[in-house]
Amino acid sequence: MSDDQDNGQDTGRALPERGLPAERVLGDVKALRAGDRPTHGGRLFAYVYDPAVPGLDELAAAAHAGSAHVNGLDPTAFPSLLAMENALVGAAARLLGGGPGTNAPDVVGSVTSGGTESLILAVKAARDARPDVAAPRIAVPVTAHAAFAKAAHYLRVALDPVPVDPVTLRPSAAAVAAAIGPDTVLVACSAPSYAHGVVDPVAEIAAVAAGAGVRCHVDACFGGWTLPWLRRLGEPVPPFDFAVAGVTSISVDLHKYAYAPKGVSVLLHRTPALRAPQFFAYADWPGYTMVNPVIASTRSGGPIAAAYATLRHLGEDGYLRLAAATRDAVAGLADAVRGTHGLRLLAEPESTVVCFTSTDPTLDLFVLVDELTARGWHTQPQLSYGDLPASVHLTVTAAVAPRVAEFGPDLADAAAAARAAGPVELPAELTALAATLTPDALTPELVAGLAAALGLGGAAAGAVGAAAGSGGAAVGSGGGFAPDATVNALLDAAPPALRERLLVEFVGLLQRPTY
Ligand SMILES: Cc1ncc(COP(=O)(O)O)c(C=O)c1O
Repeated sequence: MSDDQDNGQDTGRALPERGLPAERVLGDVKALRAGDRPTHGGRLFAYVYDPAVPGLDELAAAAHAGSAHVNGLDPTAFPSLLAMENALVGAAARLLGGGPGTNAPDVVGSVTSGGTESLILAVKAARDARPDVAAPRIAVPVTAHAAFAKAAHYLRVALDPVPVDPVTLRPSAAAVAAAIGPDTVLVACSAPSYAHGVVDPVAEIAAVAAGAGVRCHVDACFGGWTLPWLRRLGEPVPPFDFAVAGVTSISVDLHKYAYAPKGVSVLLHRTPALRAPQFFAYADWPGYTMVNPVIASTRSGGPIAAAYATLRHLGEDGYLRLAAATRDAVAGLADAVRGTHGLRLLAEPESTVVCFTSTDPTLDLFVLVDELTARGWHTQPQLSYGDLPASVHLTVTAAVAPRVAEFGPDLADAAAAARAAGPVELPAELTALAATLTPDALTPELVAGLAAALGLGGAAAGAVGAAAGSGGAAVGSGGGFAPDATVNALLDAAPPALRERLLVEFVGLLQRPTY
């Protein structure tokens, strides 16, 4: 096949017959990026964390570029990475109640690629610390991040879901205790949960875990870099870190509220002995002895250097200032929700999440989400789950602060438009199908038919699209693929197992090679 780049019909193939000039290629990437949701500007309430600090992107990009080709595989060959990694772990430990002068002076940790990897490794360490348990189990609140389920799946550990109170959205210590059995190797809790931004009763849960001789992991991936600053600002943050005696490990993502570019999380353990089973080593082959603290072997130094530069540039004073701006933005957005007839906060904000639901049957949340999108506000729909109603999630960052005053009127306007449009009405047979179909009964033909009916996949597959984004939200979008209220209504009508299967099929339709 001849390359068509010269006749003005370049299809954007990754490997053209003849290489293209750098300027042209960068222009192509920029053009592709134009279809994305806006990463900056304070109007995207999921996926991205923007402090709106002038010059920070450039600084992080320069640091990233300078270390992008350095390999974290061997810390003796590239001591620069080891030094930056140790400094990041030290900063996280100190922020979260560990280090010299605390009651957790021996905290150690590793830098991972993200929250999911940190949680998988916390589960691995707990599993491998108990070789005596043939069929290990973990007790995890249903509001904890889906990455725990992924860890359980990958590591063949059974997941015991702990119910939460439908009003407080928190698990009780008693419910956690009831879920612990002789084969439990780890108890998890969130500070805070992603979906609702609620901090679990960590002290009580950790006490129960310690009493049973079980590790307790605090997932502070989302809030570990905001709660300490909010506490310093005088907010009532409950104990959730190494100050709590039974907490054995904590995860905190630097690519969230530390505002570092993607690809950096820190997993901390109270002692080196607790961390030891996290490592993997292998010498029984003719090549180099592989010693990996984390899942990846070859690791780019880029994200680590970028995070290091970000933290050093912002400093404690910077994070405190950004936390104050975020706190004020959260308060303003929550007020806007309270002031909108037919909407109710699902939880009183206690961190950096605003989460609301509809109390009015004529106000369909998924339609509201579309109306907000039409007004330039990108929110995250969350499907109903058990007793919990569908909701809208807002991850609030410092960049939102200057936008808050615009949000209230737009929310009111969008709510009025959603009421006028009325709730999504799926054809009765589709609702019945969604409610009764078992995942196994989903044939490729049925999936293709559903995808076509919903405008997914097929020709749209050339555009980038994603589903099941951060926190297991219904859908994300990009390019020419824009899942809407109808898709969310269909998913909402389906039980979780069918939602998973449908989205797996839809994402499979999107992830097709282009030639
Ligand atoms: C509480 C919590 N834990 C874990 C994760 C997973 O993090 P990542 O998407 O970086 O893998 C998230 C992501 O939003 C989160 O909010």
